[in-house]
Amino acid sequence: MGPIGIFDSGYGGLTVFREIAKKLPQYDYVYLGDNARIPYGTRSFETVYAFTKECVDQLFAMDCRLVVLACNTASAKALRTIQQVDLPLYPDLRKVLGVIRPTTEIIGDYTKTRHVGILATPGTVKSTSYPIEIHKFFPNITVYQQACPFWVPLVENNELDSPGAAYFVQADIKRLLQQSPQIDTVILACTHYPLLLPLIKQYMPPHIQVLAQGQLVANSLADYLHRHPEIEQLCTKGGTTQFFTTDSEVDFEKKAAVFYGKKIKAAPLTLG
Ligand code: DGL
Repeated sequence: MGPIGIFDSGYGGLTVFREIAKKLPQYDYVYLGDNARIPYGTRSFETVYAFTKECVDQLFAMDCRLVVLACNTASAKALRTIQQVDLPLYPDLRKVLGVIRPTTEIIGDYTKTRHVGILATPGTVKSTSYPIEIHKFFPNITVYQQACPFWVPLVENNELDSPGAAYFVQADIKRLLQQSPQIDTVILACTHYPLLLPLIKQYMPPHIQVLAQGQLVANSLADYLHRHPEIEQLCTKGGTTQFFTTDSEVDFEKKAAVFYGKKIKAAPLTLG
């Protein structure tokens, strides 16, 4: 038995984790941010897979039996291989879940026009995971994507309301919406982006609804644990959380407070 592992390339996963912790406070959690190697969003498939697998193995070594990739880039580029190739090699039951499926399986409840926009990292856009997954559930929805290469660095550097952030947020939203006047729903398909929500709302026409993933993923995890008692009973219930970062814990604690909404204590971790 062990805690539930939550992984992100950095701080972004905290926007998902805070909703999970709110919804399911009874479990123990270990959060791992690979801050030393962020961003993942501009890296190749091979690199994102190798980095993600290393971090998942680390969480498994910390006794996690269930790991959530609270990162769209890792979910898009590494999850399938980990599930299909790596997990069967483990001698005991381990599960890894991502953030894309919980988002795509309910998107049909939100869009009326059946035209949906995706704002994401270049890696997630290039993987075409969102159009593929949405079409599996809703073949009649048309998906438009826009890569936002500068948004993660802006968020990581706490440039949340600077003129630079405003410029790129406005420009990328414009590029997305130019693809179709029928878009009525936009998914923030990167766990860093909810931090830019005040700016995003400023530049998004009011008739377009903007979806962040935190609550969607938390609801989906609660449902998963309910449907899979064989996994649920492997998750310890002490209500504790430990935070680890592959970079400086001092920086992590300072910035994590912004993402998580409250102060935390973190410990440094060397992979391998
Ligand atoms: N938070 C990650 C995501 O959801 C992206 C951050 C990165 O580029 O590493 O896609």
